[in-house]
Amino acid sequence: MSRKRDESPSSLWPAIQFTVNGGSRTVRVPPMKRLLDVLREDLHLTGTKEGCGEGECGSCSVRMNDELVNSCLVPVLQAEGADIQTVEGLALNGDLHPLQQAFLHHGGAQCGICTPGMLMAAAQLLAHTPHPSATEIREALAGNLCRCTGFMHIFESVAAAADAHDAQQANEHTMEQTHHAR
Ligand code: FES
Ligand code: FES
Repeated sequence: MSRKRDESPSSLWPAIQFTVNGGSRTVRVPPMKRLLDVLREDLHLTGTKEGCGEGECGSCSVRMNDELVNSCLVPVLQAEGADIQTVEGLALNGDLHPLQQAFLHHGGAQCGICTPGMLMAAAQLLAHTPHPSATEIREALAGNLCRCTGFMHIFESVAAAADAHDAQQANEHTMEQTHHAR
């Protein structure tokens, strides 16, 4: 039997506006539609993945108003006016984010299903704790499950990204000092 589809004209739904990866977006969808589905189906941002669909695995994690949320548990109505970042918003001008580079170099990703959520949880951590301890990294990723890596490579990747961020800042600082000394 085919699944009955909701064919209500989208104009019947109230407009819901929010920001995704720095751009303003407006959708007209059922207000209780999951943010996860709005991102993937309506905005075609398919980087965010569904694992459990029940708030248990973290694979659908996105940053919303500077908090990490499971987008499978957020009705899009709650995103009205919010500032949202998805995994598509990590790379800048085509350059991978240090976390993405570190996951590549340290084997932090295998099948990839958990990876976008892991990256967003790690990004949330580094945004507030740029020099995390091993314990802080584990705690920050405690809500994100991975069936493939055994977690160690993921923890190493996050630590390496934090170090790379330090090195980049030190380099920028040195360049700035050189510039002022001229
Ligand atoms: S799909 Fe959202 S927490 Fe698992
Ligand atoms: S890389 Fe496969 S679930 Fe984490």
